[in-house]
Amino acid sequence: MTMIACRLCGGTIEPFLDFGPMPIANGFLRPEDIATERRYPLEVGICRRCAMVQLLHVVPEQEMFNAGYAFFSSTSARMAVHFERFAQDVLSTWLPTAPFVVELGCNDGIMLRHYRRPGVRHLGIEPSANVAAAARGQGLNVIERFFDADVAQEIVEAHGPADALVGANVVCHIPYLDSVFEGAGRLLASEGVFIFEDPYIGDIVRQTAYDQIYDEHIYYFSLASIETLARRHDLEVVDVIPQAVHGGQIRFVLARSGRRRVSDRVAQLAATEQTQGLSVPRTFEAFRAAVERSRDALVGQLDALGAAGQRVVGYGATSKSTTVINYCGLHTRHLEYISDVTPTKIGRVSPGAHIPIRDHAEFRASPPDVALLFAWNHAAEILAKEASFRASGGRFLTYVPRVSLG
Ligand code: SAH
Ligand code: TMP
Ligand code: ZN
Repeated sequence: MTMIACRLCGGTIEPFLDFGPMPIANGFLRPEDIATERRYPLEVGICRRCAMVQLLHVVPEQEMFNAGYAFFSSTSARMAVHFERFAQDVLSTWLPTAPFVVELGCNDGIMLRHYRRPGVRHLGIEPSANVAAAARGQGLNVIERFFDADVAQEIVEAHGPADALVGANVVCHIPYLDSVFEGAGRLLASEGVFIFEDPYIGDIVRQTAYDQIYDEHIYYFSLASIETLARRHDLEVVDVIPQAVHGGQIRFVLARSGRRRVSDRVAQLAATEQTQGLSVPRTFEAFRAAVERSRDALVGQLDALGAAGQRVVGYGATSKSTTVINYCGLHTRHLEYISDVTPTKIGRVSPGAHIPIRDHAEFRASPPDVALLFAWNHAAEILAKEASFRASGGRFLTYVPRVSLG
């Protein structure tokens, strides 16, 4: 176990789970590039002072977010609907007339496109060149940068203050989170709001969703840890809105201190977190034990299926699957291949274990006996899509919240 200081407050971090060296979670590679693959330590801990759960080691951001970034947001139809509603909520609940909206990590434009409408100015900040190009291809305004306090300064000088700074699945990815909050402080108009949603540590613990832990997710937010950070930047949490997507997230709404009414939901969530013990290291020791049991149950189930001669394939080459596959020691012996719909992933192999990624068409043409559902966060969408697979005897194996075959 490594000891390091909290990146945000300098407090002591209590490490609670060490996955060992891991490949880049989204680093789906061409078979000919296997020799160049690198591994980085993946270890997670909680700060005793500010309660922020965080990775102890950080992979250089250019290694993860670049012109070869494998994740295109628009592969999920449900997420497209979710982000249309997110944008509508921002526009109708939080904004003045003629607003300026800035989105961090806009990826292929899945949400940003809904701010391109008469009377609204929009700007996306997206460092991964390939997905940024996909957004620009739809006529969206995108700058190819890593957002931080300096970039915020440049934006405010060039375009004026923002009425909303929004982001989904990006704020927890940024190691220099303090600089992001400082940037929010520089960029926001006096009544402006900073709205972001990310995986929620309360859901991760409750569901033993350890596969949310991987290199891109540097922080695992609770209300307590976000409030501590916000206070240092004269910002305040004014609302918290749970989201069902991606297996449980929270949308945080921050404003300059004292400028907006604070919703009752904030105090309610603080009380729930107290009961769940989300600031207490002991809670995370129990989480680790649950993770180890989950791993053993999954490997036991896959071994039994293998012994019974069942054909098993993975469903969804998610970044989360990289943690599961490598932590559980899964292998081509357990999984024939992983099915996915993303063109940039098909034909590649999975990080670490090098399980082939194949087109979903192959899954359809020759259905296996069992599909291990790595994309469990899209379960409703996938179960609906695969009704005929199940009707003809195919089964899904899941592991969140517990290992189950059905
Ligand atoms: N918002 C999308 C994409 C999430 S993936 C969705 O929810 O589906 C995270 C995205 O954040 C990637 O496209 C990545 O390139 C981008 N990103 C990473 N670091 C960033 C930073 N410092 N500033 C802005 N975007 C960043
Ligand atoms: P995510 O969990 O990070 O959103 O990634 C989901 C992955 O699963 C992505 O590679 C696309 C893939 N996927 C499918 O192959 N089929 C589907 O129906 C869905 C929703 C996702
Ligand atoms: Zn801290």
